[in-house]
Amino acid sequence: MRTLPLLLLLVASPLVAQTAEPSIVPRPVSVTTGHGTFVLEPATVIWADSASAELAAQLADYIEPATGYRFRVEVGGIPLAGIRLRRDPGLERLGEEGYSLQATRDGIEIRSAGAAGTFYGIQTLRQLLPPEILRDARVEGVEWTVPAVRIEDRPRFGWRGAHLDVVRHFMPLDFVKKYIDLLALHKLNSFHWHLTDDQGWRIEIRKYPRLTEVGAWRKETMIPPFQSDPALRKYDGVRHGGFYTQEDVREIVEYARKQFVNVVPEIEMPGHASAAIAAYPRLGVGSEPSEVATYWGVFSNIFNASDSTIAFLQDVLTEVMELFPSRFIHVGGDEADKAWWKESPRIQARIRELGLKDEHELQSWFIRQMDKFLAERGRRLIGWDEILEGGLAPGATVMSWRGFTGGLAAARAGHDVVMSPTQWSYFDYYQSADRANEPHSIGGFLPIDTVYAFNPVPAALEPQYRHHILGAQFNLWTEYIATTRHAEYMAYPRGAAMAEVVWTPVERKDFADFKRRLAVHLQRLDALSVNYREPRE
Ligand code: ACM
Repeated sequence: MRTLPLLLLLVASPLVAQTAEPSIVPRPVSVTTGHGTFVLEPATVIWADSASAELAAQLADYIEPATGYRFRVEVGGIPLAGIRLRRDPGLERLGEEGYSLQATRDGIEIRSAGAAGTFYGIQTLRQLLPPEILRDARVEGVEWTVPAVRIEDRPRFGWRGAHLDVVRHFMPLDFVKKYIDLLALHKLNSFHWHLTDDQGWRIEIRKYPRLTEVGAWRKETMIPPFQSDPALRKYDGVRHGGFYTQEDVREIVEYARKQFVNVVPEIEMPGHASAAIAAYPRLGVGSEPSEVATYWGVFSNIFNASDSTIAFLQDVLTEVMELFPSRFIHVGGDEADKAWWKESPRIQARIRELGLKDEHELQSWFIRQMDKFLAERGRRLIGWDEILEGGLAPGATVMSWRGFTGGLAAARAGHDVVMSPTQWSYFDYYQSADRANEPHSIGGFLPIDTVYAFNPVPAALEPQYRHHILGAQFNLWTEYIATTRHAEYMAYPRGAAMAEVVWTPVERKDFADFKRRLAVHLQRLDALSVNYREPRE
């Protein structure tokens, strides 16, 4: 008579004795742990349907360096034990980017309705394996196990981004690739490449070679700390610069595409234009000679609004569109100082000629020319929230950086919005109150728990407008970030917290649990030689 309850206990035990949830970052929507492990062996086979063949090869590439195992990929066969990738229209409820992953002692199956979903299932699988799986050469003495688990997952937002300023300090191509690798590991899908500004022009434009011949180089750089009084500024006397050729850009775009990362280029206008104006003075307003800026801040240099300048910038956008398949093209629009527009008789005449009221309306007119140009070519304009001033262009999407205000106004007017408010998203800010023990930074204070607490949908936004919040991103401005190691220090682990902000449903977010998973996740970043900031305090 004792056998029956014992049997029941055995059957029920998987539900009672749950093992700890695996340390996946960002945390999936649903995770059910099981018993036992699947062990990778040299002879493990990846079974893929034809839609998943390329991703199966990519999975084999991920596994090979650390394990030394080159998995055979079988496409279209009847699957036996091993790893199975399968496109499943029945999973449409999880969207293009969602997936289901089931691991048992006998095998692993990743199913998804879209290719991106399979890719994210593979990212999760990488995180289910020991962190050493991310190493680039064979690691001895590790048993390559995957815990039995059932996961269903999908992202909260479609725009999950990270920005990188390569103007204030030029970042080499290999680093840009590593940056993209890290986005993909964190299931981020948008790389905002800040390519032009006062201190440099970093993308080759074939029609206008001086943009890089002249605009990509500054004669020296201000030494921190910032001095508003020019007389007190000190300079390093070292020429700085660099740019990406069109071949470089194509390489980055393709590299990112394979990791389901869209590259959004940013070409700044009408302000943050000193480097372009130094290259082609006819684009400017001021009579003073312009040089590529050597210090930081907001500059008076601004594009004029003549037909030929608009045509010049549209030529630039034409080459940009040839290079970047992104639906969204970023035209900046922030911090355009209007003083020279106010003072210039030529600009004032232009305002009257166009029947506009003031300089804000002129900026709005300027952005509209770009909006129309991009829209006619099947693209969408995105700009910083200043593009609201003087009236928002009809097709524009707003990137809200000065808090939520611009984003709220844009969403309520029926425009799409990407949130990147300074107080949660500016990763150039200090991560600790103990500034003396941190590298010099632009200022601010943004510790990881504050990033984690960010909700890109403001509570004040009425439900009928919430679908306009496409998502969020962190921004990494590099005025005070001169090296790639320093850039990594600022980006991680706060980037892991941002990944959870944009991927994980609010009800699954839990900072204590995040910290537990982060302890393991940092071993992954170690394996990838990421110079993250060690959490302390
Ligand atoms: C910005 O930080 N100026 C967009």
